[in-house]
Amino acid sequence: MRVTLTWFGHGGWAIEAEGHKIVLDPFLSESPVAPVEVDKVEADFVLVSHGHSDHLGDAVAIARRTGACVIANFEICQWLGRQGVENTHPMNLGGAVEQPFGRVKMTLAHHSSSLPDGSDGGNPCGFLLGLSAGNVYFACDTGLFLDMRLIGSSGLALAALPIGDNFTMGPDDALEAVKLLKPERVVPVHVNTWPLIAQDVATWAERVRTETSAQPVLLEPGGSFQLG
Ligand code: NI
Ligand code: MN
Repeated sequence: MRVTLTWFGHGGWAIEAEGHKIVLDPFLSESPVAPVEVDKVEADFVLVSHGHSDHLGDAVAIARRTGACVIANFEICQWLGRQGVENTHPMNLGGAVEQPFGRVKMTLAHHSSSLPDGSDGGNPCGFLLGLSAGNVYFACDTGLFLDMRLIGSSGLALAALPIGDNFTMGPDDALEAVKLLKPERVVPVHVNTWPLIAQDVATWAERVRTETSAQPVLLEPGGSFQLG
């Protein structure tokens, strides 16, 4: 079955898979590049990689309105419970679980994860989704790490990698990540949201084409593409 992915800009995604609507790191109301209004977002599941406001974003509002199940680490799920979000699925690093849309594995991320009120947000993570159209890896906020080779070992149809630098990998390290992960396609994210993480994505894409076996996919916020 086909999987449709729509980039919200920054680190945010909407994914349609097996008739389910999933959003990941829905940073919209405070984002300078958000292509949709929070109230218009439909969701059955919300994936949250860490507690920072540019990732947790509007997850509470979306979960309250839609009743979507929030999949996040244990500490974030506990915090969400205190915000009145009861439908959560807590996980932790290295764990995987079958969901109606596919398999969700919580992967390492080298970053931090405080919540907006200063609460402990546990460990930050990435997500490896086993979907009918293939494996999709969202690195989320992270620096480069050699274990990405393990994440790619099952074969990736797509990797979404941060290239903005400063808070995450920059273009050079993200290129190394592509070489470790060996995805069929790669999308640069966490870039050009603000001047601090501005990068030339076209130049990076050209380096991906010439230096790796992956095909770069460049999207504008609101842009979609399909797998499968
Ligand atoms: Ni962050
Ligand atoms: Mn971030």
